[in-house]
Amino acid sequence: MGIEEHRNWDSVDYTNLLSGNLFPPNFMWGVATASHQIEGGNTNNWSAFEPRSKSGQLSGNACDHWNRKEEDIQLIKDLNVSHYRFSIEWSRIEPQQGIWDEDAVQWYSDLVDQLLDKGIQPMATLHHFTHPLWWDEKGGFENENNIDDWIRFCVKMFDVLSDRIDWWCTINEPAVFASMGYVLGEFPPGERSFKKTRIVSTNLMRAHARCYQTLKSMEHGKRAHIGLVKNINLFDPYRRWNPLHRLQARLLDGMFNLCWIKGLMTGRFKAPSALRSKEIPGLKGSSDFIGVNYYTHLLATPFMPTKVDIDPLIRPWEQRTDFRYPMYAEGLRRAFDMVSCLNLPIIVTENGVADDDDDMRPEHIRRHLQITGEAIADGMDIRGFYHWSLMDNFEWAEGYDQRFGLYHVDFETKERTLKESGALYSEIVKAHRVPQVVILAGGLGTRLGERTKQMPKSLINVSGKPILSHILDWAGAQGCMEALILTGHLGEQFDGFRHEGMALTFHQESEPLGTGGALWNARHLIQDRFILLWGDDFHPIDYSELVAYHEQESSPLTLTVTTEHGEMNLLHVDGKIAQYDKSTSPPSEFNGYESGTSVVEKRVLLEHGKDGKWSWEETVYPEMSMKASAYLDNTKFWDMGTPERLERLAEFLNKTSL
Ligand code: GAL
Repeated sequence: MGIEEHRNWDSVDYTNLLSGNLFPPNFMWGVATASHQIEGGNTNNWSAFEPRSKSGQLSGNACDHWNRKEEDIQLIKDLNVSHYRFSIEWSRIEPQQGIWDEDAVQWYSDLVDQLLDKGIQPMATLHHFTHPLWWDEKGGFENENNIDDWIRFCVKMFDVLSDRIDWWCTINEPAVFASMGYVLGEFPPGERSFKKTRIVSTNLMRAHARCYQTLKSMEHGKRAHIGLVKNINLFDPYRRWNPLHRLQARLLDGMFNLCWIKGLMTGRFKAPSALRSKEIPGLKGSSDFIGVNYYTHLLATPFMPTKVDIDPLIRPWEQRTDFRYPMYAEGLRRAFDMVSCLNLPIIVTENGVADDDDDMRPEHIRRHLQITGEAIADGMDIRGFYHWSLMDNFEWAEGYDQRFGLYHVDFETKERTLKESGALYSEIVKAHRVPQVVILAGGLGTRLGERTKQMPKSLINVSGKPILSHILDWAGAQGCMEALILTGHLGEQFDGFRHEGMALTFHQESEPLGTGGALWNARHLIQDRFILLWGDDFHPIDYSELVAYHEQESSPLTLTVTTEHGEMNLLHVDGKIAQYDKSTSPPSEFNGYESGTSVVEKRVLLEHGKDGKWSWEETVYPEMSMKASAYLDNTKFWDMGTPERLERLAEFLNKTSL
C-alpha cells in the first residue's frame, strides 16, 4: 500500500523539467488514445451498451479519427513526441467471426507507415475495453474457450504489423475491465456478480499470457517488447489509525492491484474475491515491460460508494479533477514502487486528467513528470511516459463530459485546438529530445576496391554489420529516435534496412547531387534543427553536450573540431570557423580538423541551398566564415576512406561493445 505522502508543491523547483535536464535523452515521450474513444463509427460491445450507460451518450462518430488520420498524425507530430500509443479495434478487423476486413487492416498498416514517416514510433494495444459483438454474444472473456478467437486476431495483427511495430500492449487495465463491467456495472455488460468477476479476471490473465507467449514465438517476436498495461489505483485509509479504514484499503489494494502483480510475478493468479490461486500456463515472466496507467488514489472507509457518481472523499488540501477524484501526483511514485517487484522496465502508458477548462492540466503535467524524473534519478528503470490523451474523446460511461485531451475537440465541427497544457507538454518534450539525425549516406566506396565501387560506403560491413548500423547504434544511444538517410542515387540498395528503436526515412536522388544537393533535395523532410553526420564516419561523441553548446552559443551551425589530427582543414578563431579548405596542402596557420558531427539550423540550408550538384562543406563553410561555431572536442573519429582505415575501424569496433 505504501505510505501516503504529500508534498508541498509550492516549493518544488521545476527548473530541470523545463530546461530539459530531468529525463535521459532516449526517454520515450508519447501520447495515448484508444480506438473506440476516437475513431467513430464502431459497432462493438461498447456501442451496444451505450444507451444503457450512466451518461446514456453514444460514441457515434467520436472524433471522426477514422477519417482524419493524417490530420491527427500531424497533431501528434506537432507535440514533438516520439511515440504514440493507440489500440486496434478488433470489431473492425473481424466484423464477423472468421471474416477479416482487409481494408481495416490496411488502415492500421497505413497509420503505422505514416507515423514512422513522421518519425513517431507506434505502440499498439490489442484489447482496450472493446471487442466485436459476435464475440460478446459468445460470452467474451466469461468463457475460457473464447480466448482462441482473440489470440487469432492478435496473431493476424502481429503478422501484419510486427515488421514495423516494436511495442505491443496485450490487454489494457484488466482490473478496470473486470471491476467496471462486473462489480460496479458501469461498463458492459453492466453486471454485478463476484462470481463472473473472478471468471473474467482469470480469463483475462490467461488471455494475456497466451498472447504474450504466442506473439513471442512468431517472426519478430523476440525483438518486440510485449507487456501488460496495469492501472494502479492507490487505496489509502481515510483515517490512518482507524483499523476498519486500513482493512478496507488493504482489501481493495489486494483485489485491484496486488493480486494482478503477484500473478505476473509468480504465474499463479488469485482472482479478486477468490479463495485459492490458480496456476496460469505461461503467465510467469509474460511481460517485457510493465505499463502503468496512473490517475489517482482513493480514500477507503467501509462505507465507500459503489457508484462512481457519488463524490469520493479527498484530503482538504487536494484539488478535485472533473472526474471528482483528486489530483495526487505523489502516488505515481508509489505506483512505480508497487510494480518494481516485477523487475521490469516501467512505462507510464497513461497519465492525464479530466479538466474541462484546462486550468489544472498544466500543473498536473508538471507534477507527474517531476515525480517520474525524480524516480529515474533514484535509479528506477522508467522508459517512457504517454500522456492520456492526445485529444478530448469519448470517456466511456462519462461520455463526452470528461475532457482529457491535450487538444480540445469541438464535437460538432470536429475541430481540434491545442490547449495551453498541450503547448506546455510539447515544450517540455522538445527541451528533452535530441534533434533528428540526417546522414549523408550516398558516397560510394570508390577507393575501397571493385566490390564497393557501385555501393554506398555506408552499407559496407564492418565488424558484423553495415557501418550505417554502427552509426545508428551510437545515435540511438545518444537518444536519437529519428534519422533521415540520404541514400544518394543508388538508394534501392537500402531496401529493407531498419534499425530497432529508430524511425528511419530514406531519400533517394535521381542523379548524384553532392552533399549540398542531397540536403537541398530532401529539405522537405528536414526538421528545424538537425544533427548532420557522414555515412562513412563513426564519431562517438556526446550529442547532448554538443547540442547544449550549440544552443548556448545561439549558433546557426556548429561544427565539431578536433585539434588532434594528422592534417588540418580549418582555421578556428575565437570559437568561430574562419576558413575551411580540404585541399591537400592547407595553410600552416590551420589549427583544426572537422571531425564529422555538426548541428545545423535548417535556415542555414534554406539560405545557402540551390538546385543541382554542390558540396555542403565547400559552399556553406566559407560563406559562413566567422558565423559557424567550432565545438572543440578531441574524441577520436573513424573514417573508412581507404582499406587501411577501414581495417582500423573494424579493429576498433570489434573491441568496443556499444
Ligand atoms: C483509463 C482508460 C482510458 C481512459 C482513461 C481516463 O482507465 O484506459 O481509456 O478512459 O482511463 O479515464
